[in-house]
Formats: sequence, C-alpha cells, structure tokens
Amino acid sequence: MACFLAKRPASETVKQVRLREDGGCVDHELCMTRLLSRRALLSVAAAGIAAAACGSDTAAPGGPPLRERAAARGLVYGAAGDVELTTNQQLGTTFVREAGAFVPEVSLKWAALRPASDTFDFVASDALIAWAGARTILVRGHALAWHQALPNWFAGVANEQTAGGFLDAHIAAVAGRYSGRVGSWDVVNEPLDPFSDRDDGLREESPWLRLLGPAYIARAFVAAREADATAVLTLNEYGFENDPGAARKRADFLRLIGRLKDSGTPIQAAGLQAHLLQNNPRWAEFDATGYSKFLGELAAMGLQLFVTELDVNDTAFPQDARTRDAAVASVYRDYLGVALAEPAVKMVTTWGLSDRTSWIDRSYPRKDGAHARPLPLDAGYQRKAAWEAVATAFDRAPKR
Ligand code: XIL
Repeated sequence: MACFLAKRPASETVKQVRLREDGGCVDHELCMTRLLSRRALLSVAAAGIAAAACGSDTAAPGGPPLRERAAARGLVYGAAGDVELTTNQQLGTTFVREAGAFVPEVSLKWAALRPASDTFDFVASDALIAWAGARTILVRGHALAWHQALPNWFAGVANEQTAGGFLDAHIAAVAGRYSGRVGSWDVVNEPLDPFSDRDDGLREESPWLRLLGPAYIARAFVAAREADATAVLTLNEYGFENDPGAARKRADFLRLIGRLKDSGTPIQAAGLQAHLLQNNPRWAEFDATGYSKFLGELAAMGLQLFVTELDVNDTAFPQDARTRDAAVASVYRDYLGVALAEPAVKMVTTWGLSDRTSWIDRSYPRKDGAHARPLPLDAGYQRKAAWEAVATAFDRAPKR
C-alpha cells in the first residue's frame, strides 16, 4: 500500500520536528501509513513526546495544536482552504499551526481549472500547491470526476462520443501536473444517490454516468494511476451517517468498491465526507453500530479510510453561540469517537478550519441570520468547543 506521502523515500516519511531558536516547534510532519519503517515507527513514538514538549510553549487554550494531537496517535489532521490561505496572513499562519494536511476547497475542481474546453488555468492551484509544499503540508486533491462544478461549456460539447476523451485528458493534465506533490486524489466524488432508481445506486443526474455509463468510475481511476504512479486514489462520498439514505448508501458503496476491486481498478482509499447533519439535522439518529461495521467492512477490503470533509451543520441548533458550540462539539465527539476507533482511519480533514470561511454559511444560511459555527475555530480564529472535542478525540484514539 502506498504511503500518503507517496513520492517520498521511506527515510523521509518520518516525523520532522524543527525547532525555533527558542526551542518552540515550527512544524511537524508524520507519515500515517501502515508501511512505516522501523525508523518511522520509532518517530511515531517520539511524536507523542515532542507534542507534549511543545505543549509548554503553545500557550493557546487547549494545548498543542490539532496536527500534533493527531500525529501523536499516528493520524494526520488537515483542513480545506483556498487562495485566501496565501493572501490572509492570519488565516495562513493559523492554518500552518493547526493543520498538517490541506485540500483545496475549490481550485482543483473542473470549473476552476477549465475556462474553456481546450484550455487550463492553473494559476490558483499552482499557487496553493506551492504554498503547501513550502510549508511541508500534505496535499489532497479534490476532485477529478464529479457531477457538480462542471464549467458551463461542458454541456455544450460533451456527448457519448466525446465525454471519455474529456475525462481522460483532464485527469492526465491535472493529476499529471501535480504528480509527486498531491499525496492523495479524490478521483471520483459522490457517485451514489440513495434515491436512485438504479439497482447499483449510481447517481442518475451525473453527466459522467449518463454519457459513459458505470464504467466512467473505473476509467477515471485508471487515468489517475496513469497520470500519477503513487498518489493514494480515493473514492469520496457523503451521507453514510444517518438516514434517510445512509443504510442504502453504505451498502451501495461497499458493492461499488467490491466491483472496482474485483476488476483490478487501482483504488486505495475510501473518503468519508462526514458533512454531519447535512441530510438529517437529527444527530440522535446516528447509527453508530451500523457506521462502525461499515468502516470495518471497508477496512477488510484493504482500503485506507480518510474522513475528508468533516463539519457540523448547525442550522437547526439554537442561535445562542455557547449553546450552539456545545451542541456542535458533542456531534464531533460522538462521530470521531466511532470513526477513530477504526484503525484504518488514517486522516481527518475538516471542510475548512475557521467559521470565517465555511461553505455552510453560503450554502445553508440560517433563517435567523446568525453565522454558522461548524468548524474547530471561530470566525476570529479562536479555538472553541468543537476544537476541544476534535483534540480530545485524537488524544483518545487508538495509536495507528
Ligand atoms: C463546496 C465548497 O465548499 C463550496 O465553496 C462550493 O461553492 C461548492 O462546493 N461536497 C464536496 C465539496 O465534495 O466539493 C463541496 O464543496 C461540499 C460538498
């Protein structure tokens, strides 16, 4: 199984702790793979010690940052962000302190990269990937084949004859360009729909499915592997936690992965978006037993598991910030308690780090006009109850 830090030699896949002149920690990097060398395993143990040592000078409430809390358990913590990371110094600095992995929220999507059918615009994505690379932050790529975020020109030119060529060429260009710098790709995003009329549960509204049939999924994985020999190739999906839809989605996802593996498709990881409460605001309906069994079944298929887009939609929670923060934190606690108990879960990325830049405010505005508070840090980049819940969940996770 490839390491998430795929292109780096084993000797580099170790924890790196650089010390400032005053002895404080500058950055930490930890390979999370099952293929850790003996040296790396020793360094995992060292990570706990280093994180504890760093705690003394990271005076912020709650102690060491999330990336260290995760690394101490052999996990990677990361977050989504976009070009503002490179222009907003406070956001960038906070991000580097808390997160060891990064996923561009928008800039690697088709609509961002493809101004016209025969051109690419890599200005924003190049800047972001260079930004992360200069800070030893792991990068996840998102997403090569998705039914959303397609440019306007796409519908006019894509048909049953041309769509396959567009898919192959896009993946070759994008995954090829960042080969060695993107450790893991969401190759196919959200292929399933629990309300699909199809037996296989595939999302009927996807132009990829409509134009290419179910084979588009394996085709995208093969193209990604051809473009990048070592990135961890991931199938990413949401809505596994609570009904309506979760039970069917879990079953359809397992079947889909089974078919991909049986046909020799290069897939190494399952991405669990975990936009909690997005499709059902009643967390009381979290089927922890079914979810945990599902994770075990995915792990038994030989996959690494990544929690890829974690956040808590607080639209249905009371307006009062303290009450809301406590409710959000409790959902994080419940979810991560279950998810991190599964050792195949190697990484957790939240969909944003600070409430200042959360998509929930834009996509699910509250009726009372209050801003969403779905992420570990508040809009002023201060740690809040959700941060504490995530940090504690890492502390309690079994060591990888
Ligand atoms: C969202 C972004 O956060 C928004 O900024 C954008 O406007 C729409 O897409 N599942 C996914 C992500 O896989 O790509 C989505 O991101 C959120 C849901």
